[in-house]
Amino acid sequence: MVLFSKESVQKLREAIDIVDLISRYVDLKKAGVTYKGLCPFHDERTPSFTVQAATRHYHCFGCGAHGDGLSFLMQHESLDFKQALEFLAERYGVTLEVAEGSSEQKGTSKVRLRQVMEAASQFYHTALLHSKEASRARDYLSSRGFSDSFLRSFTVGFALEKRTTLSSFLLEQGFSRKEMMEVGLVGKKGGDFFTDRILFPIHDAIGNIIGFSGRKWREETFGGKYINTPETPLFKKSQVLFGLYRSKKRLMKERIACLVEGQLDALRLIEAGFDFTVATLGTAFGMSHVDQLRAFGVEEVYLSFDQDEAGHKSAEKAGHMLMKRGIGVRVVSFDGAKDPDELLSRQGKSAFYSALATALPYVEYVVNRSKQRHDWALPQNKDRELRQIAERIREWDSSILVHESLRQLASLVHVPEKLLNIGEKAVLTTSLPSSLPLPRAGDAALMLELDIVRYLVNGSENTELVECISKNISEDDFISGQVRKLFSKSMKQIEQGKGVDFVSLASELDTEEAEKIFQALVSRRQKAEGALQQVKELICKVKERNWLQKRETIRLKMEEAQIDEKELMNLAKEFDSLMKSPPSKI
Ligand code: GTP
Ligand code: MN
Repeated sequence: MVLFSKESVQKLREAIDIVDLISRYVDLKKAGVTYKGLCPFHDERTPSFTVQAATRHYHCFGCGAHGDGLSFLMQHESLDFKQALEFLAERYGVTLEVAEGSSEQKGTSKVRLRQVMEAASQFYHTALLHSKEASRARDYLSSRGFSDSFLRSFTVGFALEKRTTLSSFLLEQGFSRKEMMEVGLVGKKGGDFFTDRILFPIHDAIGNIIGFSGRKWREETFGGKYINTPETPLFKKSQVLFGLYRSKKRLMKERIACLVEGQLDALRLIEAGFDFTVATLGTAFGMSHVDQLRAFGVEEVYLSFDQDEAGHKSAEKAGHMLMKRGIGVRVVSFDGAKDPDELLSRQGKSAFYSALATALPYVEYVVNRSKQRHDWALPQNKDRELRQIAERIREWDSSILVHESLRQLASLVHVPEKLLNIGEKAVLTTSLPSSLPLPRAGDAALMLELDIVRYLVNGSENTELVECISKNISEDDFISGQVRKLFSKSMKQIEQGKGVDFVSLASELDTEEAEKIFQALVSRRQKAEGALQQVKELICKVKERNWLQKRETIRLKMEEAQIDEKELMNLAKEFDSLMKSPPSKI
């Protein structure tokens, strides 16, 4: 069962306007039939990045980045292929028909659900800015120092007290109760989910509103200080990084992030220009957050949690999880305020700048914290605490990071390195997993074959390359059934003169495994320069691998005990002729 119908994928392929798409991210200038701009994939001062409208491709003559609309979104915006396809479909007005029976089909289309959220957000926002009922909530916000432009910039909203306000409005707009319920805007009893609260929209990484966080503005209001949208098909609380949409650009470019505990901390920091800040939604920070940060390329995180015992505990825990996956951690501390929001409104931006500048590296932070709680002048305390810290460090995935951090620890606390058994466990720890949900590492055969298909798709306009591939390798050479399928589909389309790109291959995905492989195919970057030579080498590797494997199979058969003489003779002949014709170089 395929994921998307062939017809709709084909429609989408034709509808994508690659110049329009890339113009969202790159300033493009027309130069003849091509468009030129500064490459978003590497640093440069003179433009070598080009976009071809006719073939719907981009190509960088500087770094060799190359691809179509789908690979651009996946690589530049770190979207997975489904998000990228949905984004394209929405922008270019094509409905991606989800094939019948596919698990994706349950419930209302995501596009529709996002429309409800958007309409609700506009309604809430207008209510906050203009309704009489919200005037005291506005006073509250302004007493906390949130300006009008802040409220507009983050489309802050207000849910009125009456339980039917939003639902009546949305009904009038043509949305059904079922749709409102599906996104959590309406509760089980049919009334508005949020009432009498200030609402902060929650976005996904692309900027779609997926939920709201509602804050009390007066004590009398029933319920906790914050109430979030319940879990819905759009909103998965444990995966949300609040503020990511606004912070993504800098976070990806500078590879750093600032992580805070409160949504208001995040918004205030982003407004103040620290627009690489994200927050979790009150839920504990988890591995899925770490993986997301890694997928966006983040290498260092500044933890700026509340300056109380709970905040310190969370920082220690979150720091450990980040370091486990090889992301560097610095812990931010400051005086005279309980959280970053308060710091900014009391002491201004410069206070947070200096707090960032003096943030302690994780290991140092952990040592300091232990020293505050235990008297390290007593040898037994120092002994116990050091052992514990070293033990935690050894849980990190990267052996090099473990080694270096232990050395840092030894020097920091003035003990000889050998007392911390440095180097002992280094061989046992594994290397870091890839940040992308690629097929299991170690599947070198699969990667090899995928590399060939990627060159074929990216080089489908390059006749010499296509010829070399079609002459030297056929679908029988592919071991992975999934990659073989992608290969033959690509070849067929090229032979029929239709050309091929990643979008058109998306109609071939029929299993979860196929989706994973497709993700790996599109999300990896490959240089277009020297493609022909690379492809030749890859083909040789495949041929050699297959030849060795065939030889091994015959050899094993010959060793079988019950084999009769005639069969053995045949096998020997086969073996002989195989040995005489090893794969030749191309
Ligand atoms: P202000 O108190 O308005 O400054 O907000 P804050 O973000 O600083 O809140 P606080 O430091 O008390 O809490 C940090 C985060 O924990 C909040 O941003 C929420 O995400 C979450 N949180 C706090 N209280 C509640 C609650 O009652 N319910 C839920 N679901 N989350 C909460
Ligand atoms: Mn606060």
